[in-house]
Amino acid sequence: MSTNTVDDKRKVTTSRLIEMKQRGEKIAMLTAYDYSMAKLIDEAGMDVILVGDSASNVMAGNITTLPITLDQMIYHAKSVIKGTKRALVVCDMPFGTYQGNSKEALASAIRIMKESHAEAVKMEGGSEIRESIERILCAGIPVMGHLGLTPQSINKFGTYAVRAKEEREAEKLIADAHLLEEIGCFALVLEKIPAKLAERVASELTIPVIGIGAGGGVDGQVLVMHDMLGINQGFSPKFLRRYADLSTIINQAVGRYIDDVKTSDFPNASEQY
Ligand code: KIV
Repeated sequence: MSTNTVDDKRKVTTSRLIEMKQRGEKIAMLTAYDYSMAKLIDEAGMDVILVGDSASNVMAGNITTLPITLDQMIYHAKSVIKGTKRALVVCDMPFGTYQGNSKEALASAIRIMKESHAEAVKMEGGSEIRESIERILCAGIPVMGHLGLTPQSINKFGTYAVRAKEEREAEKLIADAHLLEEIGCFALVLEKIPAKLAERVASELTIPVIGIGAGGGVDGQVLVMHDMLGINQGFSPKFLRRYADLSTIINQAVGRYIDDVKTSDFPNASEQY
């Protein structure tokens, strides 16, 4: 079994991500929500750690990302930051903290940066949230955009199916991607859209485009940690590659522990004082 070591130990910054795109070096991004996993992921050489609002699903057991609060996101981001040395840490702005009122959006972003020490925020949407993004950028807070399937709008879409298959929606997505680059976002996530469309956006933009279910023609990939490690077995979309089966490993390990306790095998003579 090989252990990943990264030669370049320098801290990843937003400008280094843009340089990576220029060099044609792919960007690896993964979610994390706590200190211990963030430390493992960072030590393995991850470029970007996303404190995703998917915490609402995988950490809190909610059906959607909507219920998670700003306080809860700050709690997760604070824990991740403590475990991270090299990766850039980006924190999702949760639903209801930036749509509609740009002053509130700025106040939410400032709380994330001040209280968690995250290094950037991610926001879902294009022209509709332009004012909020611009105000946050003016305060010197880096913003990562997120277009395509935007889970915070699940009640508008009604489904988690592939987005922007129709020409009109694809055109709006391309226009929004250009807008986000023009106003100063440092990167963009494209979720669950046709690979050809994602490749076109990545080739037209100078900022890195990170895909999830958007094919291989983009500048990097992001997955939800619980999905790719097989902790969350109930979610298996076509785009997901599972790199481990942790749910089986955990189930077997915990089962052995229960057996050992019940049979008085644990603790043995060398495991006591
Ligand atoms: O919240 C999240 O985990 C995300 C990724 C799916 C990109 O936004």
